[in-house]
Amino acid sequence: MKKAQWKEGEDTLVVDLDVKQANWSQSPALELAKDYLLAGQLVSFPTETVYGLGGDGLNPEACLNIFAVKRRPADNPLILHVDSLDMAKRLVTKEAGNVMDKWEGVLAKLWPGPLTLIFHRSELVPDVVTAGGDTVAIRMPDHPIAKSLIQMTEKPIAAPSANRSGRPSPTNAQDVYEDLAGAIPLIVDGGECNIGIESTVVDMTGPYPIILRPGFYTKEILESHFGQVGYDEAILGENQVPRSPGQKYKHYAPKAEMMIFVGDLDQVDRCLQEEAVKKEHEGKRIAALIFEENEIPQGIDDIIVQSSVHDPETMSHNLFSNLRELDRRGADLILAVGFNEDEGLAVSIMNRMRKSASNHVIIC
Ligand code: TXA
Ligand code: MG
Repeated sequence: MKKAQWKEGEDTLVVDLDVKQANWSQSPALELAKDYLLAGQLVSFPTETVYGLGGDGLNPEACLNIFAVKRRPADNPLILHVDSLDMAKRLVTKEAGNVMDKWEGVLAKLWPGPLTLIFHRSELVPDVVTAGGDTVAIRMPDHPIAKSLIQMTEKPIAAPSANRSGRPSPTNAQDVYEDLAGAIPLIVDGGECNIGIESTVVDMTGPYPIILRPGFYTKEILESHFGQVGYDEAILGENQVPRSPGQKYKHYAPKAEMMIFVGDLDQVDRCLQEEAVKKEHEGKRIAALIFEENEIPQGIDDIIVQSSVHDPETMSHNLFSNLRELDRRGADLILAVGFNEDEGLAVSIMNRMRKSASNHVIIC
């Protein structure tokens, strides 16, 4: 990797941490990460979903710096990551704490995990974290490195995904380095994230939970625990203003233009092939993201088979890193096959793909 200095004379460090080794939790890398966090600096670390860009969530300056480093719009609030229900309760109002108590049994099953819950905030939470709003997003991550950092600092860690705003979320340390080298002192490399797409964001302030951002925990899974669960209208409709501010920005986007093809497999094969032929004449470098079940298209420079169409877990694990890989290979146009179903994890994956493609979907 090319080196990049985050301040005069100091390179952004990438430190490899093998959590399967004995004593990894006493590693100097974690101590260093802790020291940086407590000093108000930012550190990128893995979670089970994607890599986070972490800062002390109770330190307004550290949180402001997260916005600066990511070039994130100031109206898009941050998630606070906690390691216990007690820590979570300190961040919310007494009434919200009662709601947590009511769902304690359910939360014990879903947390730690890829679920972010929105509650009314307490005084402890800096304004910059909530973008001035009266609610705060809280998540208990299920990753040993993320957990250790929260435990060691004894602080809630504010952490958005560790990409520059608008880019696909990073699912490995190299992808973080690509976006943030020279901007932060330390990246803790814990290998690839298992899940690969972000947590489900759920508003808990109303009469029943509302999904603001679909994620790895699906509506069906949440319903099996909470009973009634709704979707924010903006996820389903085209023209509503989303209540999760992050959903309104162009997001998860590769540098290449992207088109999504959906429909019966053989129709999709034909449609995608026709588009490839058309665009090849325009002299574009074309890439395709397809399923194992698709036919291999002709005349395409880069083809990545993402997963079986019946295996959305593998697809979600691979999607963002594949988009970044195609950028590295210099694709001008990505022709991607999408899911037809509107249930389960396919909803979340299509949500990310639509945003990556500026909603350019071709029904074949
Ligand atoms: O899996 C994840 O959630 C990753 C890892 C690092 O934990 N984090 C992540 O953070 O995806 P970020 O900042 O990239 O996305 C957070 C989403 C944004 O869409 C934001 O608008 C929404 O959560 N959000 C945060 N606070 C909110 C609030 N108070 N009300 C509504 N939406 C909120
Ligand atoms: Mg993000």
